[in-house]
Amino acid sequence: MPTIDLVTEIPGPRSREMIARKERVVADPLDLHVRAVIERGVGATVTDVDGNSLIDLSGGLGCHLVGYSHPKVVEAVRRQAERFSHTDFSVIPYEPYVELAERLVSLVGGDRKVALFNSGAEAVENAVKFAKAATGRPAVLCFEGAFHGRTLLTMTLTSRHDPYKAGFGPFAPEVYRVPFSYPYRSSNPERSGHLALDVLKRAFTTVVDPHSVACLIFEPVQGEGGFVVPAPEFLPGVTELCREHGIVTIADEVQSGTGRTGRFLASEHFGIEADVVVLAKALGGGYPLSAVVGRVDIMDAPRPSAIGGTYVGNPVACAAANAVLDVVEQEGLLERAEQVGKAIRSGWEAIARDVPEVGEIRGLGAMVGVELVRNRATKEPAADFLRRLMTETQRRGVVTVGCGIYHNVLRHLVPLVITDEQLGEAMEVLGEVAVAVRE
Ligand SMILES: Cc1ncc(COP(=O)(O)O)c(C=O)c1O
Repeated sequence: MPTIDLVTEIPGPRSREMIARKERVVADPLDLHVRAVIERGVGATVTDVDGNSLIDLSGGLGCHLVGYSHPKVVEAVRRQAERFSHTDFSVIPYEPYVELAERLVSLVGGDRKVALFNSGAEAVENAVKFAKAATGRPAVLCFEGAFHGRTLLTMTLTSRHDPYKAGFGPFAPEVYRVPFSYPYRSSNPERSGHLALDVLKRAFTTVVDPHSVACLIFEPVQGEGGFVVPAPEFLPGVTELCREHGIVTIADEVQSGTGRTGRFLASEHFGIEADVVVLAKALGGGYPLSAVVGRVDIMDAPRPSAIGGTYVGNPVACAAANAVLDVVEQEGLLERAEQVGKAIRSGWEAIARDVPEVGEIRGLGAMVGVELVRNRATKEPAADFLRRLMTETQRRGVVTVGCGIYHNVLRHLVPLVITDEQLGEAMEVLGEVAVAVRE
């Protein structure tokens, strides 16, 4: 029995009606990627208000690592909501927060402490505050292609102007940007890591005094920037340089963490241990939760009450996160990430034989991106092709999302509980559509 079951066109009449209501009262910048309104989600599937069943390869933009409505997460949330939904942890503390902190310390490893927040951006902001308090330095280093959020500081750290920054200046001061290793688009792919490291070293003479830099923030695998996996020597070189200069390293694992790449942290693939790790998205299983997990001396540096917030580490979200970690462990989702990633890669390798727009298939574990180009030799980005592909797959019942500094990378953020049959069905649609939307 196929999972995709379309009883109306997408969007169907009820979705269209609801979207018209939305357009009257919701601000336009909150535009829609999928024009089907969800009624419920289970595992990797979504049913819309017209009764259509779709397969969701975007997994709530990476939040549904354990799938929509996982019974263990639902039960944990229900039980916690019945007991109490909120206190403000700094007024009346509770166990789910402490339990989650204990588990994160043991999963990330080392002598660490934890602070919880609501969103990825909020955790990144706070990671920088911890680093500034610990070093007494003002500046922050970040990378080209980075995405760290939409608040003033995180928007400043984010690389792309359109759509994230244009018109929103002035930006936060003392933020400096250097190139990331992007082997596919490097003038010398074999040496991409060394070249980017050379620029970073030079930047400490020509761009910013390293003694004024509190921290350097990086995504071990860039998410929004195009699922870019840096050359193997790059991140070890970056962390070593930072250590030499007393600069705190912050690994933004909001998209790559909690097991997406087949390890709890993507950093593990590179043999690095950042001083501070930021987690969000998959950790909360769809509930607003993020975490900063850092070295004890860094986490203890700010004054009492300098870090916090009314809702941070909400008990219901903590209960969900503890259930997510149970599921990752009990259902062997780290191993499953490898299998899902292999299936996506081999599906795309087959598609690439008939579709020359497939420029590169890359990633770690289940964090797989496909960079689409007009021409494999010139690598000219094929943003139009991706747009047509996503529109048409959606019409055929598969939800896909893009990324990339040139808007030309298809990213897979598949719930790892997807069945082999569902993944096969989705890959078949992707293959048929990729051929059909060629010009
Ligand atoms: C790497 C990374 N950091 C930070 C963020 C911001 O997270 P949030 O949208 O929860 O604020 C995102 C969101 O996509 C992300 O991918």
